[in-house]
Amino acid sequence: MKVSIASDHAGYDLRQIVIKHLEEKGFEVLDGGAPNGTDSYSYVEAGKKIAEDVLSGRADRGIAICGTGIGISLVCNKYKGIRCALCSNEFMAKMCRQHNDANILAFGARVLGQGVALEMVDAFFTEEFLGGRHADRVNGIREVEDANFK
Ligand code: RB5
Repeated sequence: MKVSIASDHAGYDLRQIVIKHLEEKGFEVLDGGAPNGTDSYSYVEAGKKIAEDVLSGRADRGIAICGTGIGISLVCNKYKGIRCALCSNEFMAKMCRQHNDANILAFGARVLGQGVALEMVDAFFTEEFLGGRHADRVNGIREVEDANFK
């Protein structure tokens, strides 16, 4: 599976840890966003990169990191077809796959420790969408997109 990951400067250090973790597990990683953790880099640019990688098929799923995870998840969710889930624990990361068929996981480097972050990453790539009534709801999200995105 190909994973697009990007962050702003606030997420840079945690991004390096997540990339190493993913590569050790055999994922192909497309890295983007801040080139270091010191120079300011907008979460808007990082979020655009991930969303466009996923929508174009260059990546199967994405991981989005900023200070809180809020800004970058807002950007990703401005793209039709993106379901970016801002999570803060393993249960949420599990549910965003099972119930919401999320295609991007977002979290905040200033909110979480690396242990929780890696637990969430593992859950995000292990859990599958359950379909059924949840598929009806995800289709409902698509209808909202169709009605409101140009
Ligand atoms: C950067 O200072 C910070 O605003 C950003 O990382 C993020 O938390 C925004 O939502």
